[in-house]
Amino acid sequence: MTRPPLFPALIILLTAHSLFAQPRHWPGDARGERLIDSLIRVMTIDEKVGQLVQYTAKGRDSLPGPSVSAEQGELIARGRIGGIFNLWGATATRAAQKIAVERSRLKIPLLFGLDVIHGYRTTFPIPLAEASSWDTAMVEQDARVAAAEAAASGVNWTFAPMVDIARDPRWGRIAEGSGEDPLLGSLMAAARVRGFQGGDPASYVSIAACAKHFAAYGGAEGGRDYNTVDMSERTLREVYLPPYKAAVDAGALTVMSSFNEIGGVPATGNHALLTGILRNEWGFRGFVVSDWMAITELIPHGVARDTLAAAALAFNAGTDADMESGAYRLFLPRLLREGKVTSPLLDEGVRRLLRVKFALGLFDDPYRHSSLELERSTILSPDNIARARDAGRRSIVLLKNAGGLLPLSKNIRSVAVIGPLADDRADPLGPWDALGRPEDVVTLLEGIRNAVPSSTRLLYARGCTIEGADRSGIALAVEAANDADAVVLAVGESSAMSGEAASRSTLDLPGIQNALVEAVASTGKPVVLVLMNGRPLSIAWAEAHIPAIMETWFLGVQTGNAIADLLFGDYNPSGKLPLTFLRTVGQVPFYYNHKNTGRPPVDTSKFTSRYSDLPSSPLFPFGYGLSYTTFDYGSVTLSPEVIDTAGTVAVDVRVKNTGTRRGEEVVQLYVRQDVGSVTRPVRELKGFQRIILAPGESRRVEFSLPARDLLMYDDSMRRVVEPGTFTVYVGTNSRDVTEGHFKVRER
Ligand code: GLC
Repeated sequence: MTRPPLFPALIILLTAHSLFAQPRHWPGDARGERLIDSLIRVMTIDEKVGQLVQYTAKGRDSLPGPSVSAEQGELIARGRIGGIFNLWGATATRAAQKIAVERSRLKIPLLFGLDVIHGYRTTFPIPLAEASSWDTAMVEQDARVAAAEAAASGVNWTFAPMVDIARDPRWGRIAEGSGEDPLLGSLMAAARVRGFQGGDPASYVSIAACAKHFAAYGGAEGGRDYNTVDMSERTLREVYLPPYKAAVDAGALTVMSSFNEIGGVPATGNHALLTGILRNEWGFRGFVVSDWMAITELIPHGVARDTLAAAALAFNAGTDADMESGAYRLFLPRLLREGKVTSPLLDEGVRRLLRVKFALGLFDDPYRHSSLELERSTILSPDNIARARDAGRRSIVLLKNAGGLLPLSKNIRSVAVIGPLADDRADPLGPWDALGRPEDVVTLLEGIRNAVPSSTRLLYARGCTIEGADRSGIALAVEAANDADAVVLAVGESSAMSGEAASRSTLDLPGIQNALVEAVASTGKPVVLVLMNGRPLSIAWAEAHIPAIMETWFLGVQTGNAIADLLFGDYNPSGKLPLTFLRTVGQVPFYYNHKNTGRPPVDTSKFTSRYSDLPSSPLFPFGYGLSYTTFDYGSVTLSPEVIDTAGTVAVDVRVKNTGTRRGEEVVQLYVRQDVGSVTRPVRELKGFQRIILAPGESRRVEFSLPARDLLMYDDSMRRVVEPGTFTVYVGTNSRDVTEGHFKVRER
């Protein structure tokens, strides 16, 4: 069956359709339900359990990769495995699928899962970077590209989006999410689900999304991965749960349960969470897969004595599928015989799995996601690479630009490009880079070379390594700096310092990079500091001594070109921080939507909530990001100034480009409930708009703020809008704002 070549227009068309359509073949799809009923009626217990079993591909030498093991092949042929993950490539997935649909008794197709977190082979900026764009349309398109590349290679299920709110930058997985805010996180979650699944998950450029890690994994104490999460139900529901719900509401076909406990009950065995909230409250209709071995981890958690008890606890709580532990394959049949798991519950879990396979169109065409032809035409296509470059540009946050050092002139005679990340090909891919390859990456040095005329002299010096203690390279770096008109200094983290099991006890630049920064700064040359990292870092010294600072995170395959586009002014920075940038790790936890306390910090007043040795403010606030132009905000006007609990306030403000360059600004709207039955955050993001203004141009920016956006959990945990006065803040970030006031009265 020949398929039309995949054109960008097709991706856009499918995405356009995706904006409003729930997945086809969902419950209520009569054909699908009839097929599923007929299958369940004839399935043996072992075949039913088999659908709930997900294993990583154990190819040759038990490494993940382009084959399943002989033992796995036999289990697939006997209907004992429902999905394989970490297998990719049209050839390998077709071979495995062939076993399932030709040799097994019921010929039920396999799922093929992979962590396509920020790109399949065309690696995009890490999710934290993409969140810095505040551009949900871009994020959706990037996910669409990732889905098309993955689908062509036979992957029909991604373990993404990761939607965990994170307030602790020590946590390595902060890199995989969208920062600290529930609204921004929710909008990014929904955009990624739409991007991965499109309007029709059965299309051959769509793959099933998986909202993870449910729930509150980012709340780990100490920012230590897998650690205890203990928070009030109000914080759980108002801060951590919204992005998962947004993913479910966007139609996510699957959810992944997290490793952590919440208040004493591990998520993977948490009935109140997986059944009470996810299914009964939110109406989630897909299936829940455990995280890797999370079912048997209920034993070290201390809530299951052995694997038999762990399987019973997890399945009865609402974890439908078992990732890798084998607990379900080995013990669910026995639990069924002993009546510790009921047959109807087993059938319901199997039904959820089969529904997702049906929604993906696998029963119509099990091979729809494996196309050698599409692999060739789709993967790393020029359009995909161009999209990665655009995403890179939009994800960069300009933190400082003293004296208008940036943008640099392309006629500059010489530039010293220094630092351990200046010509690094691997780390810019970031953690969870799927099939991204270093050879696909444009390094910063290469990007600068591409941007300037050949007459510009480039001097390169690594200076030091990311983590090493060897200072011998600093002298050469200083020499290069002295010999150049300007310096671009790239420092930061390795990609291995972010992602899973990558928590750090400090936010400092690793190794002796601070010494390199100070030595290069001491030359007195104009220095642009380029950060490449997976978490906010402590850069207070640099902020005080370096004239220009760019936060670039890990930008993927087009790193060098994207950064160079900003360095030399081909793109005017528009990124905004999706989290708070602290002065030092000692300030953790520190997030913008904090409570006021009874003694809010005043740096000049001892008996207030502050550290005696630090200013109480962060280095850069949530929502912060500079442009090469400047924007001026007029006063906020609200109408009406009094609404009832079903009303809507129109908020508007005039924004003017007061600089000399066309620029894009993210106008942000925050609200504070002045008085409540419980304490309320000092501000909460309630909306934002991206506007583009020419020099001198001004525009009236209007927000519509419905009272339902003021919903909160009151002192009895009722979800209500409480009458009273509210303060509105509008501005260029969460700190620099103009304010207005309105009132909500009883209806
Ligand atoms: C890992 C991660 C999860 C990932 C899964 C499969 O342990 O926690 O995010 O999707 O295993 O690779």
